[in-house]
Amino acid sequence: MPIYQQLGRVPRKRHVAFRKDDGSLHYEELVGNQGFTGLSSLLYHLRLPTAVKSVRPVRGLGWVAEPERVVRHRHFRTSGLATGPSAVVDRVPLLFNADIAISMARPRKEDAFFYRNGQGDEVVFVVEGAGVLESSFGDLPYRPGDYVVIPRGVLHRWRLGPSPVRLLVIESAGYVRTPKRYRNEHGQLTEMAPFSERDIRRPEHLVTHDEAGEFQVVVKSGNRLVEMVVPHHPFDVVGWDGYYYPWAFSIHDFEPRVGRVHLPPPVHQTFEGEGWVVCSFCPRPYDFEPGAVSTPYSHQNVMSDEVLFYANAEFMSRKGIELGSITLHPDGLPHGPQPGKTEESIGAKGTNELAVMVDTFRPLLVSRESLAIEDAAYHASWLEPHP
Ligand SMILES: [Fe+2]
Repeated sequence: MPIYQQLGRVPRKRHVAFRKDDGSLHYEELVGNQGFTGLSSLLYHLRLPTAVKSVRPVRGLGWVAEPERVVRHRHFRTSGLATGPSAVVDRVPLLFNADIAISMARPRKEDAFFYRNGQGDEVVFVVEGAGVLESSFGDLPYRPGDYVVIPRGVLHRWRLGPSPVRLLVIESAGYVRTPKRYRNEHGQLTEMAPFSERDIRRPEHLVTHDEAGEFQVVVKSGNRLVEMVVPHHPFDVVGWDGYYYPWAFSIHDFEPRVGRVHLPPPVHQTFEGEGWVVCSFCPRPYDFEPGAVSTPYSHQNVMSDEVLFYANAEFMSRKGIELGSITLHPDGLPHGPQPGKTEESIGAKGTNELAVMVDTFRPLLVSRESLAIEDAAYHASWLEPHP
């Protein structure tokens, strides 16, 4: 995130001796992307962050697509999805391509291990539940409606609060950022952006663990999980500074745009990566021209697959969906409001919809697991009722 942040103690200059009370050195570590030229942070550890006692493979993560690509509009009811207990290693694959992978986790148990995704940045949308994301950078509380952005390489662990936690996980091969058009040449979000730095929550409380022993770290790399046993608690950071860290932004802090007549989805854009964008559809008043049609017009999203995750059961242009529904409208097929929704929107005052849209520029594959939760009649839901 391009906001400078510092927590804990750091030396006056980078790369100079930073000693503990007993005269020994702290261990400096750079965590960043794009080979020392992208965003980065410098962390200061009590112990050597490279120390590993043993390594063992856990398993491969080959995601399997449906046997034959089905080209029609799709609807999946994720509320019926059974997932394993972990927030990170039991995610159920839903949709994917080379740029992005969408999965779901409904963790029931806190992991005993720490986790590092070495191959992708994560945007985790908190559908329900609250808790704290622990990381080397400090504690980051999360709550329903948060997008928790975890850049690759950040060691972390999801701590779970008392109520059920449901996470929609968007994993990106490219790095995750805010839309470029929202930022000025200095990196600051401009007055035209639908959110500001004040809405970005950063790790706020650094806990330093000074503890030797055996600790498990699970790393995802090359579509495989490996487990490393390290000889000390890995959250032994006394201080850090920089631009690279996990952060959170609440969908409820997105300031929706409203026009005299309908505005298209780019006004809802929240994040971007290589080959995809995420947009947030939030409660808002409808367009204010008398006679304005507030639902979208039918459209063909050529060169784009369009995914919507419904975070409540209301959506201005859609019938038959529920909280947890995912619709996939693939490249080349027209879609739009279902019969009756356009007429219903004229003169209406507003919408309470809450949804996360993921548009990808390359076609998505549907996972084998998604077939079990598919509403197979969805593609016919635009048929006008016949008298
Ligand atoms: Fe659309």
